[in-house]
Amino acid sequence: MELQPLVSDLTSAPGPPRLRSLFRRREAPGTTRVHPHGLIQVPQQSQGDAWALGLRRNFPILARQIAGRRIVYLDSAATSQKPDAVIDAICEYYRSCNANIHRSVYTLAEEATTGFEGARSRIARFVGGTPDTTIFTRNATEAINLVAYAWGRQNVREREVVLVTKMEHHSNLVPWQLLCQETGAELRYVDVTEDGLLRLDDLDAELSTGRVRLAAVAHVSNVLGTINPVAEIVRRIHAAGAIALVDGSQAVPHLPVDIGQIDADFYAWTGHKALGPTGIGVLHGRRELLENMGPFLAGGDMISTVDLQASTWNALPWKYEAGTSMIAEATGLGAAVDYLAALGMSQVRGHELALTRQALGRLAEVPGLTVLGPARTDDRAGVISFTIDGAHPHDVAEVLNRTNVCVRAGHHCAQPLMRHLGLSATTRVSFGPYNATDDIDALMAGLQDVTALLQQWGSLQTHSELAEHGRHPRNFGDLANPDLAGQASVELCGDDLGVHLRVTDGRVAAIRFHGHGCALAISAASYASGQYLGLPLTDISSLTAGWALGLLPVPVQPIREPCAVLHLHTVLSALAALSRHK
Ligand SMILES: Cc1ncc(COP(=O)(O)O)c(C=O)c1O
Repeated sequence: MELQPLVSDLTSAPGPPRLRSLFRRREAPGTTRVHPHGLIQVPQQSQGDAWALGLRRNFPILARQIAGRRIVYLDSAATSQKPDAVIDAICEYYRSCNANIHRSVYTLAEEATTGFEGARSRIARFVGGTPDTTIFTRNATEAINLVAYAWGRQNVREREVVLVTKMEHHSNLVPWQLLCQETGAELRYVDVTEDGLLRLDDLDAELSTGRVRLAAVAHVSNVLGTINPVAEIVRRIHAAGAIALVDGSQAVPHLPVDIGQIDADFYAWTGHKALGPTGIGVLHGRRELLENMGPFLAGGDMISTVDLQASTWNALPWKYEAGTSMIAEATGLGAAVDYLAALGMSQVRGHELALTRQALGRLAEVPGLTVLGPARTDDRAGVISFTIDGAHPHDVAEVLNRTNVCVRAGHHCAQPLMRHLGLSATTRVSFGPYNATDDIDALMAGLQDVTALLQQWGSLQTHSELAEHGRHPRNFGDLANPDLAGQASVELCGDDLGVHLRVTDGRVAAIRFHGHGCALAISAASYASGQYLGLPLTDISSLTAGWALGLLPVPVQPIREPCAVLHLHTVLSALAALSRHK
């Protein structure tokens, strides 16, 4: 069989021969080729379902069945699935050339180094960057922290402004909060329109103060799906004399990205959302800035010379890569970008946009369902967050899971955005290149189950007694002039309960819960409320989560335990308020 390069510029892919062979084969579309670890179907190069369904065969996890049903994976914004090419590249590295890099002269080590640095070159090229300004980190979060520490601590001063937007992931917020707390700089936010777009007039107003030292913006929102006009935003930031950081975590896996054209000073992204493994992220930086910044982490590999009292730093990019690098992970990410490059990012974008358009059209038909984010589909990546009147996102996700439809429910690590939207959580569907119409069909069928179950709210619980508590929660409401009041929430999903207690002779004489939560949080509070009546406050303070879980007639999934024990935290917070007042 005549083998052609997977993508033309990979014919010179560095690395040991067996690894190289993974990158080199390419057959005519639609043919099946033999892979060292099995069969890979090369999909037809046409847009649409046939393309995605062909490609799905490259993702072994998508062949798995749970309870006799296939997996409908609609959570690629959280992490993507991995093709055989990536899994095999990692296995091949460990099987055939595992050795530490940059230090030994023997053949294995040379192969490992060549494979690692070759992956860096291809990863840089994939987004239009250069290898020496392409730094490997553990993930996007670490890449942004690197900038906040190494550049930020050296350059940001009191009373200057670090500007972010209200649609940022916590990864692009919390590092700047810490920087501002340390330096006395001010953290300010660019607002988001009702349509889920950045308010560029707000950006201009902030920039016009002359105080902005750095502005950090998501390329694509992980909640709203908004594709921000980052090249234009960076142009405005530079015109105001500030430094620009773009968080490309949700962009690189789904859009053709050219960091040269965007021209940000720093561009960060994460490997595991881009078909690569976990444990590897990327920071592209402007050379002058990277050269002038001090190091981030210190230790082996990042030094040039070490004396008893002082050291000098290695050249770029290794100055920012302390300790043994993620060799297998970089190799895997190299294979991932090869795979994406072979698909063609325009093709990936076109396919995901078509799916998004189709899904938006069909979701619009679900009663009570509200989609967040841009009205114009072209402004969106393949991320759709929605709410359904009367249904908590956690419950929606749990019902969908009954037919193996995997979606994310929660605040998506974007609590300031959630607060801005007046929501505690949403359900989020997100696409990868392996999704097709059959996935949207499965989602829609699952949502029909949700709406059917909603008609008898509370029966989202499988156990009939619990369901009854969900339908008609006991001891819910307010007490006039309560003796004690408490409140607690579940950070993960936005459940938020309050409690009022009437206390007589040191015992609970009446209890009322209020607030909002998923079916489990409400049913469990109702179920437990009778147990609190008559209990001495001194006994309540020693109650544990195990006690609260033990009250329930059914076991609870570990991920949902915080919902099931929320009532106890609420009551304990009321007691804590009492002890503070003593
Ligand atoms: C927009 C955005 N930025 C940053 C991150 C953080 O990625 P990681 O956890 O891999 O660092 C995420 C992850 O969800 C994200 O969606």
